Amino acid sequence: MAKKRLGIGIIGAGFIGKFHIRSWISVRDGDINGIFDRNEETANEAASLVKSLNVGDPKIYKSVTDLVADPNIDAVWILTPNFTRLEVMEEIVNAVESGKGELIGVACEKPLGRNVYEAKKMLELVQRAKLLDGYLEDQIFSPTTIRGKELLWARGANNAGRPYLARAAEEHSGPHMPWFWEGSLQGGGVLNDMMCHSVEVARHLLTQPGKPRESITPVKVTAHTECLKWQNPKYSQILSNNSNGKVDYNNRPSEDYARSVIEYRDENNQKLIVETTTSWCYVGAGLRLSMEVLGPEYSLAINSLDTDMKIFLSRDIHGNQGEDLVEKQNAEVGLMPIVSNEENAYGYDVENRHMVQSFLNGKRPAENFSDGVNVTELLMTAYKSAEEETTIAFPPPDLETFIPKVAKGEWNPKLNK
Ligand SMILES: NC(=O)c1ccc[n+]([C@@H]2O[C@H](COP(=O)([O-])OP(=O)(O)OC[C@H]3O[C@@H](n4cnc5c(N)ncnc54)[C@H](O)[C@@H]3O)[C@@H](O)[C@H]2O)c1
Repeated sequence: MAKKRLGIGIIGAGFIGKFHIRSWISVRDGDINGIFDRNEETANEAASLVKSLNVGDPKIYKSVTDLVADPNIDAVWILTPNFTRLEVMEEIVNAVESGKGELIGVACEKPLGRNVYEAKKMLELVQRAKLLDGYLEDQIFSPTTIRGKELLWARGANNAGRPYLARAAEEHSGPHMPWFWEGSLQGGGVLNDMMCHSVEVARHLLTQPGKPRESITPVKVTAHTECLKWQNPKYSQILSNNSNGKVDYNNRPSEDYARSVIEYRDENNQKLIVETTTSWCYVGAGLRLSMEVLGPEYSLAINSLDTDMKIFLSRDIHGNQGEDLVEKQNAEVGLMPIVSNEENAYGYDVENRHMVQSFLNGKRPAENFSDGVNVTELLMTAYKSAEEETTIAFPPPDLETFIPKVAKGEWNPKLNK
């Protein structure tokens, strides 16, 4: 008999783990029954959060295998750092294949892998174990994106013709943990970390509702990367101080700015353009997501910092630094925009509800590991284009073995110019 409720296990309960937990108050038919984090204190904190929100009564485990072996766990969410993707997935699959545990599905945070080899391996493993797979790209589930896409196609495209240009940008002042800044651990710099969102949400907005991603085909990629801020001695010192000297932007920087232009063709061979720009050197109120879609006789614009609420705090208020106003907040005074429900606004609520319903109904989620592989292929082509300073026809022949110089610690714009 089909299950009525899904028991979830969280693997990795750090920054994004807490976002997923907070979103769970809007997710029906699933409970957070287990947590594994290699840091026990983090696991305990997350378990307290789950209980305080009444979204589960999780057990804490000593390993991925123990979590998967618990019959109360039906699906796992992989929310650990990028450099652990394959080891975590391999342990899940080993536990299932050896009969230690049974699962319905696996959902995995972005990016699916640090490169195409890893992303494809993730897909191969999940399929070998006959599990359903969800790729956690929250931005396509954001209520603004969903409603924007609905309206722009229903009122705009259906009357005047399809949209031809989508722009997406994600910018903030830099990640919260040292591992994000290390090309080898993260897979790259801001291009890998944030352009994965932008290329996918822009592609999604340009795809006709109800049609598969194959209805538009990427044919060329042109990209540019730079390190604009964090190689400056003052800022590279901050990165070094925050990581006990491990992050070395004098010798092994990652790009803190990246842009790409991806040319697509639709089913009628019409040219479509996706334009993305991402940076870790935007100092504004906090995280800024922006999207635009242009078509004949219509356009759509989204900016996550154009909020309906703002708070003004005068210079006489000296509050502690925090992220209580907006993610990646840069100030505690002045006129600040407030995103009142970030879990909802960025898409985590709807994303998790979709994953739970898909798994319960035995259906492959609409956003799955195949999408994650395609996103990785586009990002790696963008790195190749930036390295070679040329436009690359998609897909280039050596994509499967390509590792960006930044991931090998061999990229240093200071030396190359
Ligand atoms: N969708 C988004 O917008 C978004 C935002 C932030 C992060 N992410 C993604 O989520 C993932 C995690 O990022 P984060 O910001 O939460 O990182 P983080 O460093 O804040 O948290 C990672 C957690 O995983 C734990 N961990 C590390 N290795 C582990 C292992 N092998 N097994 C179990 N636990 C382990 C750590 O102890 C830590 O608590 C990354 O892949 C990142 O790209 C996505």
